[in-house]
Amino acid sequence: MENMQELLSKCKSLKLLYAEDNEIVRKSNLELLSNFFDDIDIAQDGLEGLEKFQKSHYDIVISDINMPRMNGIEMLTCIREIDRDVIILVISAHNNVSYFTDTIKLDIQGYILKPTNVIQLTDALKQGVEKIAIKENEVKYKNELKESVESEIKKREETEALLLQQSKMASMGEMIGNIAHQWRQPLAELTLLIQSFKTAQKRGILDERFVDNRVTKGMGLINNMSGTIENFRNFYSPNRAKTQFSVIESITKSLDIFDGAFSNNNIKLVIKYDKDSDYSLYGYAYEVEQVFINLLSNAKDSIIERDLSTQRVILVEVISNGNMVTIFVRDNGLGLDNKIKEKIFEPYFTTKDDDKGTGIGLYMSKKIVDQHLRGTLSASNVEFEVDNNKFSGAEFMLRLPQTKEEI
Ligand SMILES: Nc1ncnc2c1ncn2[C@@H]1O[C@H](COP(=O)(O)OP(=O)(O)O)[C@@H](O)[C@H]1O
Ligand SMILES: [Mg+2]
Repeated sequence: MENMQELLSKCKSLKLLYAEDNEIVRKSNLELLSNFFDDIDIAQDGLEGLEKFQKSHYDIVISDINMPRMNGIEMLTCIREIDRDVIILVISAHNNVSYFTDTIKLDIQGYILKPTNVIQLTDALKQGVEKIAIKENEVKYKNELKESVESEIKKREETEALLLQQSKMASMGEMIGNIAHQWRQPLAELTLLIQSFKTAQKRGILDERFVDNRVTKGMGLINNMSGTIENFRNFYSPNRAKTQFSVIESITKSLDIFDGAFSNNNIKLVIKYDKDSDYSLYGYAYEVEQVFINLLSNAKDSIIERDLSTQRVILVEVISNGNMVTIFVRDNGLGLDNKIKEKIFEPYFTTKDDDKGTGIGLYMSKKIVDQHLRGTLSASNVEFEVDNNKFSGAEFMLRLPQTKEEI
C-alpha cells in the first residue's frame, strides 16, 4: 500500500464488522474507524458478532477479546472456519502472551493495543488491505489463466475440426480421382461402341445380332462402372458401429480403390500374410481403411515421383501374434530423407505440389491410430525383397492391438 489516499479509497469499498462490549471504547474507536470505513456493523459481544457474520458477508472483522456471552477468540475461531480469507484485526487491552498465541493460530492481520492509536490502526489496516489486494490479484490471475486455457482449447478444437474436414476433402478428392481413373477405359469403350452403331448402319450390317451383341457389351461396361461407384460409396457411408473385422479385409477393400491407379502406373502390389493367423480387430473398420488409403496413396505418389523405369513395387506385409497385428507398407519410391523424417506426421507438412499434397494424410492417420485404435504408426527407410529382387524405399509400420471387445 503506497499511501494513505490509496488506503482510504480501498477501505471505503470494504464492509466492516466491529465487535466491542464497552460502550465508551466502542464510541471512540468508531469515530476513528469511520474515517476509514463507510459500511460498519456493530456487535456488542461475541455471540452477536458471530450471528451477524453468519447472516452477511464482511471483508474485515475488528474485535475486542474480553466480551460477555462469547469472547473474541471463540467468535473469531468460528468466523475463521466460515471464511478463510476474511481480514481479522484484534483490538485489546490484554497484553497477555496466551492471547497472542491464540490469535496467531487464527491467522489475524493485526493486533492493536488499547487505547487505540491511529498509527497502529493505520498500519494494521494497511496490512489487511494488502492481503485483500493480493487475494484479488490471485483470483484475477486465475481467471485470466482459465480464460486463456479455455480459449487455447477452443482454438485447438477448431483447428482439429478444420483438419478433419480437410482430410475428408482430401481423401474424397483422392477417390474422385480414382473413379475418374477407373472410368476412363470403360468410357472410351462405350464411346467406340456407340459410334459403331453409326458405322454398322452405313455398312448395312445393323441387324438384331449386332444390336444384341453391343447391348450386352455396353451393359457389362456400365455394370462395371456402377460397381466402381458402389465400392467408393461404401467408404463414404461408414458403418458407425464398432465391429469385429479382419485387417486383411480392410486392406483388400482399400486396395480395390487403387486398382486402376496402380496398374496405370505399372505398380506391382504384393500382399503377404499367413492364412492361418487371426487378424481380427475390434473397432471401426472404416478408420483402419482410411489409414491404409493414406499410406497406399503416399506410397503410390512416392513411386511415381521417383519415376523408375525398372520394377515399381508396393509390399504390404501383415503379421500377428494373437495380441497385436503389425502391418508394414513398403514401397520402392523416394524413401524418407533424414531432413523430413521428423516432420512427416505434422499437420500441413508436405513435399508435394499444392494441387497434389495437403500434408494432412499422415497427421490424421497417426491421430486415428494413437487415439482411436490405441496403436502406433512409425516410418523408416528399408531394403526389402520381392520375388528375390531387392528394393529400397520407405516403410510405414502400423501396430494395432487386437482388442476383442470395447475397453
Ligand atoms: N511412402 C512415402 N515415401 C516417401 N515420402 C513419404 C511417404 N509417405 C509420406 N511421405 C512424405 O510425407 C509427407 C506428408 O505426407 P501426408 O501427410 O500424407 O501429406 P501429403 O501426402 O498430402 O503430402 C509427404 O509430402 C512426403 O514428403
Ligand atoms: Mg498423403
